Amino acid sequence: MAILIGDTAPDFTLESTEGTIHFHDYIDGSRAVLFSHPKNFTPVCTTELGYTAKLKPEFDKRGVKAIGLSVDKLEDHAGWAKDIEETRGTALNFPLLADTKGEVARQYDMIHPNADNTLTVRSLFVIGPDKKVKLKIEYPASTGRNFDEVLRVIDSLQLTAKHRVATPVNWKQGEDVIIVPAVSNEAAKAKYPEGWTELKPYLRIVPQPCA
Ligand code: BEZ
Repeated sequence: MAILIGDTAPDFTLESTEGTIHFHDYIDGSRAVLFSHPKNFTPVCTTELGYTAKLKPEFDKRGVKAIGLSVDKLEDHAGWAKDIEETRGTALNFPLLADTKGEVARQYDMIHPNADNTLTVRSLFVIGPDKKVKLKIEYPASTGRNFDEVLRVIDSLQLTAKHRVATPVNWKQGEDVIIVPAVSNEAAKAKYPEGWTELKPYLRIVPQPCA
């Protein structure tokens, strides 16, 4: 059964570059970004992991823990980490899971047999403090992901978890948002006494509420 948005992220225990990870304990009230890469010592993956390491201050600011996964061995992770630091200028600063049996990869549908029988595709899950899946994306091996987009989605998730708003196309932190249709005009008046721009009764735009 595929893991869908809103499902509880399956728990697991695996060895990582930072010791044994019990996944649900690791999340521990934070958000997690669990992402797979196909293979160590490959070019696109090297750029992705280096960039994710560079983004650590941004993840920290948002209370998010990154955690990588591939079916490579732990000792290979250690060797490759040196290349990541050398070529990308940032040392690995988040755990990299060694799922050598591919058990977690299969649990999370990270192996797509018609793409490759054993290697993981580029799957990524954002998991909330409630351990539920908030976002899932899947990219092929040949295309590096946009981790700035992952941060953008996390900003939207954090905002919409707090306020009864949604974020429009291409929204970025600080831009106008949408009052969700489930909020009546009476309730909206109480929350937004300054009013809103109503393009349609179902499309009401307001400045982003404060955090
Ligand atoms: C890469 O990271 O460049 C890559 C990995 C596996 C297959 C193809 C490309």
